[in-house]
Amino acid sequence: MERKVCVVTGSSSGIGAATARLYAERGWNVVVNFSREAAPAEAVADECRALGADVLVQRCNVADDADCLALAAAVQARWGRCDVLVNNAGTTKFVHARKLDGLDAEDFQRIYAVNVVGAFQMTRALEPMLKLSPSGAVINVSSIAASTGMGSSIAYAASKGALNTLTMALARALGPAIRVNAIAPGLVETPWLQNGMGAERYAASVEGYKARAALAEIIQPEDVARTAWYLGVDATKTSGEVLAVDAAIKLMPV
Ligand SMILES: NC(=O)c1ccc[n+]([C@@H]2O[C@H](COP(=O)([O-])OP(=O)(O)OC[C@H]3O[C@@H](n4cnc5c(N)ncnc54)[C@H](OP(=O)(O)O)[C@@H]3O)[C@@H](O)[C@H]2O)c1
Repeated sequence: MERKVCVVTGSSSGIGAATARLYAERGWNVVVNFSREAAPAEAVADECRALGADVLVQRCNVADDADCLALAAAVQARWGRCDVLVNNAGTTKFVHARKLDGLDAEDFQRIYAVNVVGAFQMTRALEPMLKLSPSGAVINVSSIAASTGMGSSIAYAASKGALNTLTMALARALGPAIRVNAIAPGLVETPWLQNGMGAERYAASVEGYKARAALAEIIQPEDVARTAWYLGVDATKTSGEVLAVDAAIKLMPV
């Protein structure tokens, strides 16, 4: 049987890399995408190839519509199909919530350009192929920041709130051919927070998170990847939903 194709944006690291590996392991071909550094993407691609996948490595800044269209054209040329899109690429600025003057309009626009507009542009670019798939699905990687208002910055939390709304709007617009859902991870062990917070604050955050979460754990990239598989492949009657993968931290008082 012809292998299906999964495009994972921001898959040179963390959640995206784990998702690309999982789809490869389960018999799909994958696109590994990055915007800055090619070497980590090539390393993830090698892992996916070792799992049996045909892999396209594509530099694409999702904030740039021409890049998104070029990625879609490359997928069309390579396989002529796309079955699942995981809009995982994201960005932020680490600013304490009380420090309002630490954020300006440019910060909001840069963060929205990747986290919201990027997901929209990538979906629009791949829509023609997703529509032709017998099981087209889009998964947006959001965050619990969307519902708590907490996170690396107010601009980031607001962008993920917008991404949840985009998920609902696209689910309505693209059904019945394409399902659209989102995942809201809690604290995930990836370079994202480790680099953004510094080692000491990161370690304290991990301990604080474990102390508050009902499941007393932080999240691994593979936990999110398995949910991206569930929403992409198994959840055939679910669209427009946001599924938390947060070790149930929202059940506990802050
Ligand atoms: N880690 C957490 O605790 C956590 C929690 C909730 C939600 N999330 C969400 O999960 C997603 C992935 O985060 P992560 O923790 O796995 O981060 P990560 O390890 O830092 O990986 C981020 C990936 O996105 C790529 N990227 C960044 N900007 C891009 C752009 N404009 N276009 C295309 N690719 C881009 C990066 O590659 P380049 O640098 O080469 O571009 C990298 O591959 C993000 O949307 C984030 O908001 C993370």
